[in-house]
Amino acid sequence: MQSKTLIFGHRGYPKQFPENSLAGFRYALAHGIEGLEFDVHLTRDQVPMIMHDEKINRTTDDKGFIQDYSLSELRQVHLKNGESIPTLAEFLTLVGNSSVQLNLEFKTDQIQYPDIERIVFAMLKEMTLNKPVIFSSFHLPTLERCQQLAPNEIYCWLTKMNVPNPNQFLIDHHLAGLHLKHYQSDMTGTQRIWTVNRRGPAIKLFKQQVAGIFTDDFVQMMQIRDQTM
Ligand code: G3P
Ligand code: MG
Repeated sequence: MQSKTLIFGHRGYPKQFPENSLAGFRYALAHGIEGLEFDVHLTRDQVPMIMHDEKINRTTDDKGFIQDYSLSELRQVHLKNGESIPTLAEFLTLVGNSSVQLNLEFKTDQIQYPDIERIVFAMLKEMTLNKPVIFSSFHLPTLERCQQLAPNEIYCWLTKMNVPNPNQFLIDHHLAGLHLKHYQSDMTGTQRIWTVNRRGPAIKLFKQQVAGIFTDDFVQMMQIRDQTM
């Protein structure tokens, strides 16, 4: 039996809405999104915020590093649609108990926000989210710190590189899977691929039965998968 590839909205629905915006997440949830991927940083006062870059320059009307702003200062900053940068708490409130599969990416490869793992886990506990979250990061030590705090969660390492002996790598690092830029045919464990926006590569990955893809256009990718598989 073919197993269905789960489609994740990469930073929400950036084809139609600002990336990592509540408007994009809201639309995706209302239109049958299966998975949502989003990126997390910390403010100066240690509030988890959802944004891709370390700096707010590209996606907002202001500039500088997120880690140099307090939450109240960031509330004066606007995304391209006029919204504020979402906090993790706002995002989790929006998602509520919908059936969407969440993938929280710790954006710790450039800046290692001290204590980000503990702060995020405390928030998830406080919000009593009743669903499993996939945690990912390019920064392996972040995942190792997470594993010490919460050993039973789902952890996936993000990498742009080919991973030699990927199945053994999962065992050695107690990982549930790899989130890869390029499909690996030598892997039997869970792999998800980013960022898939073209029809041809998507169909190939659906046929290879990868566990998931991350896409900027989940509407199109769901149509392609459901028409071809
Ligand atoms: O998690 C998949 C993908 O989001 C990783 O790359 O740079 O878009 O966060 P990036
Ligand atoms: Mg990401």
